[in-house]
Amino acid sequence: MPHPLDPDLRRALAERVLYCREMGIYDFYRREATAEPSSSTSQPELREEMAARKSAVAPVIVEDSLVSITPNPEQNANDPSVALRLIREDLGECTRCQLHQQGRQQIVFGVGNPRAELMFVGEGPGADEDAQGEPFVGRAGQLLNNMIKAMGLRRENVYIANIVKCRPPGNRTPEPDECGTCSPFLMRQIAAIKPKVVVALGATAAKNLLTMNSSLGDLRGRWFDFKPRGSDASWPGARLAVTYHPAYLLRDPRQKGEAWKDLQMVMKFLGIEPPKKTAD
Ligand code: URA
Repeated sequence: MPHPLDPDLRRALAERVLYCREMGIYDFYRREATAEPSSSTSQPELREEMAARKSAVAPVIVEDSLVSITPNPEQNANDPSVALRLIREDLGECTRCQLHQQGRQQIVFGVGNPRAELMFVGEGPGADEDAQGEPFVGRAGQLLNNMIKAMGLRRENVYIANIVKCRPPGNRTPEPDECGTCSPFLMRQIAAIKPKVVVALGATAAKNLLTMNSSLGDLRGRWFDFKPRGSDASWPGARLAVTYHPAYLLRDPRQKGEAWKDLQMVMKFLGIEPPKKTAD
């Protein structure tokens, strides 16, 4: 039986939901209630805690109805370019994590074909990307372009984004809380585009997308099923492959052959023939 909700509690919950929405969090999950405390407990602190928990469990019943009034803005957009625009608008001039005040010039949202079958996800913008507002436009980007070309595709055919959308100072690895704050927007981009394949470039992208802490060596050379929470039920989800980050390949070009094997696995799945080598 749903518990009737105290008006103050309902107001507090609604504020909480709006706060989460501001943070880009739209999905809520019902947590099972813990077992009833024994009323015979003699410890007043414990009784108090149990009473507080009990009141925290009760409103969960109404969370669904609160959530239904705060859907993702792009939820009913069938056109992925419209959905992406709505996600970008929702992101706004984001100040949700500390990166906004650590020297970023602009947000680097993502670029490419909103209906791409193939999506690449990197770590975060570097200096060139921060200056131009587009992912992978520096040296690593040139190599990524060459990798895409070697696959017989063009940059405009695919979609490219990063785990975080603001440049970490000094190109440091983004902190877990920065990734956690930013990645719901990436998940929504993936859910809007509905690619067949997502390629995670490097360990940061792989670990954040898969929420796994395995080594790159363990993650490469195999497929993962990938479907962001809350995405369209009619979309079966993407397959996810992991390969080396192009910046790593610039530092250790001997690994390019290994990366090419990863891309060939992707091409095989997508039915892409590599372009024929010309004599010149
Ligand atoms: N490295 C990344 O991970 N992303 C970019 O956009 C550029 C360099």
